[in-house]
Amino acid sequence: MVSFPARRMRRLRRTPALRRLVAEARLSVDDLVAPLFVGEGIDEPRPIASLPGMVQHSRESLRKEVAALADLGIPGVMLFGIPTTRDAEGSQAWAPDGIVQVALAELRVEVGDDVVLMADLCLDEYTDHGHCGVLAPDGSVDNDLTLERYAQVALAQAGAGADVVAPSGMMDGQVAAIRSALERGGHHRVAILAYAAKYASALYGPFRDAVDVTIAGGGDRRSYQQDHRNRREAMAEVALDVAEGADLVMVKPALACLDVIADVRRALDVPVAAYHVSGEYAMVHAAAERGWIDGPAVAVEQLQAVKRAGADIIVTYFAREVAGAL
Ligand code: PBG
Repeated sequence: MVSFPARRMRRLRRTPALRRLVAEARLSVDDLVAPLFVGEGIDEPRPIASLPGMVQHSRESLRKEVAALADLGIPGVMLFGIPTTRDAEGSQAWAPDGIVQVALAELRVEVGDDVVLMADLCLDEYTDHGHCGVLAPDGSVDNDLTLERYAQVALAQAGAGADVVAPSGMMDGQVAAIRSALERGGHHRVAILAYAAKYASALYGPFRDAVDVTIAGGGDRRSYQQDHRNRREAMAEVALDVAEGADLVMVKPALACLDVIADVRRALDVPVAAYHVSGEYAMVHAAAERGWIDGPAVAVEQLQAVKRAGADIIVTYFAREVAGAL
């Protein structure tokens, strides 16, 4: 008697068509959101050394880039602004002529409703101390005073044409404060993508180069962002944000939090986004430049893993590159 394996797993792996037919996670252009940086007062895009291929856009180059992303079928962009002046409160974040507000209005004209315009809602790019909120006299970040500022930023971004505002500062109560400000301002249609489970991570290093942010006094964000040893705590954060009115929730970083993405996807019915962050992108490029890995292949594999973990939306610097390959 010859004995056979009970089940031959390899049967369904034999040809590309078979593999395509049985693929569980299908990464699509529709899943992608491209993070974009726009600098105030610059005429030419400026390359960002630690994010190869990414730039601080001028207003004009931003318009062209978003039009090109729309042509590729990418449904959303997330805007970050780099102002020319910073102050203790971060007032350029809500100034009507602040760089993100100006850029949003121009993009709305450029692409109409073809691309979902999201704006990162935070103060760190706008404060002279680099923290995500306003400081109390003792130097700590004042949660409730910061909420008042976030409400102002939300109104400014909504007024300028944002479809989605994305609070990323991890203040307690930020989603509720923003939702009520938006309702009072008549912006019922503006959605909130909450950076709900956002960890204090060393993987944001290249991003801080991109927006020229250094936290004063060698500080960090551990008093407001999550400790990366914690998994259950993420569920509490996400549940609070949904209860406060978040339309979409985000987990960040992505690859370092696949367990959290899977937990959130299982527990909730709102769309779940994951942010494949600057450090995750930069590592792929750095290793590929040395010839140690096949960069484009690793990029797709990583994003596929984020999708498989349960993300419905992936915010990634690879959006443009991967969209062309899908
Ligand atoms: C805060 C914000 C950060 C990122 C997105 N929004 C920086 C931080 O929390 O320090 C990081 C994104 C990335 O690393 O790609 N405005």
